[in-house]
Amino acid sequence: MAVAEPSRTGSPPRVLLLVYAVLLTATADGALAAGGLSIGINYGQIADNLPSPSRVSMLLRSMQFVIGIGNENVSAMTDPAAARAWVQQHVRPYLPSTRITCITVGNEVFKGNDTALKDSLLPAMRSVYQALGALGLQGQVNVTTAHSLDIMGSSYPPSAGAFRPDVVPYIQPLLDFLSAARSPFLINCYPYFAYKDDPAGVPLEYVLFQPNAGVTDPTTGLNYDNMLYAQVDSVYAAVQALGHTDVDVKISETGWPSRGDPDEAGATPQYAGIYIGNLLRRIETKQGTPLRPAVPIDVYVFALFNENLKPGPASERNYGLFYPDGTPVYDVGLRGYLPPMDESDATRTVRPAKWQLPEARALSQGSQSRRLQGKSLRSRHRDRSM
Ligand SMILES: *[C@@H]1O[C@H](CO)[C@@H](O)[C@H](O)[C@H]1NC(C)=O
Ligand SMILES: *[C@@H]1O[C@H](CO)[C@@H](O)[C@H](O)[C@H]1NC(C)=O
Ligand SMILES: *[C@@H]1O[C@H](CO)[C@@H](O)[C@H](O)[C@H]1NC(C)=O
Repeated sequence: MAVAEPSRTGSPPRVLLLVYAVLLTATADGALAAGGLSIGINYGQIADNLPSPSRVSMLLRSMQFVIGIGNENVSAMTDPAAARAWVQQHVRPYLPSTRITCITVGNEVFKGNDTALKDSLLPAMRSVYQALGALGLQGQVNVTTAHSLDIMGSSYPPSAGAFRPDVVPYIQPLLDFLSAARSPFLINCYPYFAYKDDPAGVPLEYVLFQPNAGVTDPTTGLNYDNMLYAQVDSVYAAVQALGHTDVDVKISETGWPSRGDPDEAGATPQYAGIYIGNLLRRIETKQGTPLRPAVPIDVYVFALFNENLKPGPASERNYGLFYPDGTPVYDVGLRGYLPPMDESDATRTVRPAKWQLPEARALSQGSQSRRLQGKSLRSRHRDRSM
């Protein structure tokens, strides 16, 4: 598979593994020590057979980080002093050596019924943003939040994309903020669920980025050959309907399970490999969506490892690109690398990590914050819109 072949570009592939770190949980189990960096890393820890955080830390050098503030901490961040203290303690010391490029405040906040949380989201984002500014870090680190696709009231055809009426009063000022802060709008997209829910009705080629006639949006005349782009463009349409053409939409989570229960159609290593491999190939060409062809899609893949203790259907435990021993679950041309078990962390020399996904970022996230919050933050949205 050609995704990671340096020869194709003539320059060494960049390592862009993106890991979602919850700095708030610095001393929780799973805390990671990497060159003085002591942070909780969400590489998916609902499992009892994963490599130790110190081994995983090898993978994390030279990678980009998205830091998540868990929903349980959002309301505290509305206090500007608390936000400043947090940024000072958990972000500033690690810049610029650790490439923290984004802070997500809360996750899928509008999926639940917690009105106090919804009300505190934007004030918390503002506080964090102002704290960055006070420390001279504005522009270096984006501030945003990640949404579930169920904030959409309609998403088909993509040009008819609109937010649910009940979330519009929240999303409107949030978009105004993102526009002013020049930060992206993040959305978690799982075309797998549309396929799983209706395998007879949803063409496999359409969800797996394989050659197919696609779907033409009757309003724009734009042709969609895959569901993911249609979902992203429906979000662009919804954003535009609220008056913004100046906010990028990025995919904060996507993925495909390599295994599932007997009733979970399509959860196979073959399909997972096709989905991720084809997605990475699109990313490699810096392709945009039909509506925003000049804006390369920006995707974080869920997840780094399979997590053998996660509850729910079998698919939930099988989103990983890698088995706990570091071997790939399926071949998408990624040369995953974990240092040998017997090497001492203390004496190991730093070698280049070999997670070479040009322009791609693998994001493993959520599990720890989910556990800490005692509820399913990352239960995936079932999209039936397409
Ligand atoms: C975040 O929430 C956890 C759990 O409620 C709490 O222990 C921790 O002190 C909070 N951190 C901040 C910075 O508010
Ligand atoms: C939110 O509340 C509504 C109405 O009370 C209920 O039907 C729905 O299941 C709740 N959703 C969540 C995520 O709790
Ligand atoms: C912040 O987001 C904007 C809009 O998507 C993007 O152009 C910029 O590169 C991001 N900044 C960083 C530091 O990643």
